Amino acid sequence: MKSKYYITTPIYYVNDVPHIGHAYTTLACDVIARFKRLDEYEVFFLTGTDEHGQKVETAAKNNGVNPKKFVDKVSENFKNLLNCMNFSNDSFIRTTEKKHIKSCQKIWEKLLSNGNIYLDKYSGWYAVRDEAFFSESEIVDGKAPSGAPVEWVEEPSYFFNLSKWEKKLLEFYESNKEFISPKSRRNEVISFVKSGLKDLSISRTSFSWGVKVPNDKNHIMYVWLDALTNYLSACEYSNEKNNEFFKKFWPADIHMVGKDIIRFHAVYWPAFLMAADLPLPKKVFAHGWWTNEGNKISKSLGNVIDPFQLVNKYGIDQIRYFLLREVPFGNDGDFSNSQLINRINSDLANSYGNLFQRVVSMIFKNCNEKIPLKPNNFNKEDITLINSIKNNLNDYRSLIDEQKFDQYLKSIWIVISNANKYVDEQAPWALKKNNFERMEVVLFTLVETIRQISILLLPFIPDTAEKILDHIKIPHDQRKLKSVGFILNGNIKISLPKPLFPRI
Ligand code: MSP
Repeated sequence: MKSKYYITTPIYYVNDVPHIGHAYTTLACDVIARFKRLDEYEVFFLTGTDEHGQKVETAAKNNGVNPKKFVDKVSENFKNLLNCMNFSNDSFIRTTEKKHIKSCQKIWEKLLSNGNIYLDKYSGWYAVRDEAFFSESEIVDGKAPSGAPVEWVEEPSYFFNLSKWEKKLLEFYESNKEFISPKSRRNEVISFVKSGLKDLSISRTSFSWGVKVPNDKNHIMYVWLDALTNYLSACEYSNEKNNEFFKKFWPADIHMVGKDIIRFHAVYWPAFLMAADLPLPKKVFAHGWWTNEGNKISKSLGNVIDPFQLVNKYGIDQIRYFLLREVPFGNDGDFSNSQLINRINSDLANSYGNLFQRVVSMIFKNCNEKIPLKPNNFNKEDITLINSIKNNLNDYRSLIDEQKFDQYLKSIWIVISNANKYVDEQAPWALKKNNFERMEVVLFTLVETIRQISILLLPFIPDTAEKILDHIKIPHDQRKLKSVGFILNGNIKISLPKPLFPRI
């Protein structure tokens, strides 16, 4: 039986158009999901939109439309981003869907019947931009720690008894060292929890755009309880008739989030789940933030990076590669056009693209338009090159499981560079005259290396890797991680290649 793998992105607020930050989080998940499928897991890859709350309600008002109409329109932009970036999600959840609303009410009732919810009154600060409550001591110069403006809120509210879960959370972090990654985030969360947790307000009465609290029509659920529950709704938590899907996929293997929302995922969410007697996700990974040419990205600065424009200008795989290669995942990174162009020209065009181009052209021109038959007289250099990926598959698996995308790519580019060196050293064009048989072995070795590299690159640059595998006629059922280990048979008719990555 196949192992299952459930991976989620945060669900995106539909107050605005998608930007590079949204594309980044989903891209990381897409690469993991594609890798796991390549490794024959049964994958459920979820993304979606967060459509309730004051922030979205205000955005709708500012646009002069009712919230439902507004969210229907804006969530379409997020769906378009999926196509634009070639994302392979299996499902798209919207928090205005019936099944999600049912899930929220179900978890609420469970929390209530377990004695974890009580009615009281909230008075304190609220930042609409963060959709978060802050106590007086957290306010910095009249603002939320993120810099978001705050407003004073005083209203009746249901509370979740978060303080009761402090010890259990700390025990859980202690026995599940990987739960919060990377390590720096883990320390940050642990010290936050150790500093003492206060009960959390989980309902609002001063506006109405949200999920109704069961049996109390004056309250709607706090948008974060609503939003986090999407991870359950999408895998059929509220489906009373058939809970096979839920049983199979829950708990999630990984929730991918940005560093700004780690607290919601690594503190509130596991506490809600424990309190509702549900199993906890295995990992929450918080990645860093992008700046634009050194500046914080913000609408007011007018420097928001539009992923649609980028892809149009540079190409999908070029952007996918750059975002994951440029910055160690987990760190903050700076987006710079010159760096992007450098990466495209040097790594993609001059290294990988050129390797493919020169090897396949030489085969086309010198071997009667056919990849030579698999030889049986490889020498030491040939074998070293052929084995460099094949013998290290478990390392690649670990790098994906540790979200070390840049290292994965670096390691493949070492093989690409070795293959280019091997071309220069073996000089097949010279062998053509005096040792034709050896030339065939060299070209075979190279095309076999290209095959392995391209399979390993399928998760990152799927269009190009598929194009290469199509070009050398690798059948679709042999584009799996396990097929890296079989060596090509050869004797395959090919055509003259076109450049894969135009230089910029
Ligand atoms: N709706 C909540 C998530 C609820 S999940 C149950 C939310 N949405 S968001 O649209 O504001 O942000 C979604 C993701 O985009 C976050 O993970 C955030 O970190 C990421 N990014 C937003 N700006 C970013 C950058 N400049 N750089 C990288 N990622 C950034 O939060």
